Amino acid sequence: MMKRRMILLGPPGAGKGTQAKIISALLGIPHISTGDILRDAVKSGSELGKKVKEIMERGDLVPDELMDRIVENRLKENDCRKGFILDGYPRTVKQAESLEKILENLNEKLDIVILVDVSEDDVVRRITNRRICPKCGKVYNLIVPDLRPNEDELCDLCKVKLIQRDDDKEETVRRRYRVYMESTSPLIEYYDKKGILERIDGKHQPEKVKEEILKVLEGNQI
Ligand code: AP5
Repeated sequence: MMKRRMILLGPPGAGKGTQAKIISALLGIPHISTGDILRDAVKSGSELGKKVKEIMERGDLVPDELMDRIVENRLKENDCRKGFILDGYPRTVKQAESLEKILENLNEKLDIVILVDVSEDDVVRRITNRRICPKCGKVYNLIVPDLRPNEDELCDLCKVKLIQRDDDKEETVRRRYRVYMESTSPLIEYYDKKGILERIDGKHQPEKVKEEILKVLEGNQI
């Protein structure tokens, strides 16, 4: 049976969001990106947004308790009963422990954690060339043939000028990578010990990465 309750783990810029969107559409399960939830809150100027804006701009982590509450509320929604793709959460061992409790209370458990791995230099190259449509949210990359906009820095669909994320400057990307190595990478061992971790090499073209993810979801070895 296809595994449907999953975490996509990996450094910033590994392609978690890109792959989560594809898999979510293919399997008809929700893509839960904590980064997107927080960016929406900042954009709307809500209390949550005001609290997290500076933390995100620095490339630091938002406090665990706040993230746990956001994810708990989202996972309680009905559409998650068919499965879900968590992207950007958990990011600390403490969050992983909270997630276990949240799922236990919902009578659910994780099927699989997929680590999409990419080197620091590749991460910096990818993220500094990421561009986003401010209108529809489509994500592009200026140096990847499959992901480039058709016209110079314009959204293919909305024809508006693409923008850069506030935390996508090289200096901040390097800081986010350090934070990942310190706080998030211990989750690799955490889930490996539980026997539910699968590793995917994220340096390939998006199409190939997608195929490899689908293989592990079907329970096949790569
Ligand atoms: P978040 O939004 O989660 O950022 P991130 O983990 O740093 O991940 P990114 O969105 O940068 O990268 P991605 O792996 O999704 O890559 P993408 O597919 O876009 O978090 C942002 C901030 O929010 C955090 O720093 C923190 O402050 C806060 N936060 C969020 N969750 C939190 C939590 N749980 N706890 C505490 N704080 C939290 O791809 C990147 C680029 O590469 C794109 O241009 C894309 O087009 C391109 N690309 C994708 N795939 C490929 C490929 N195969 N080959 C070449 N290019 C590719």
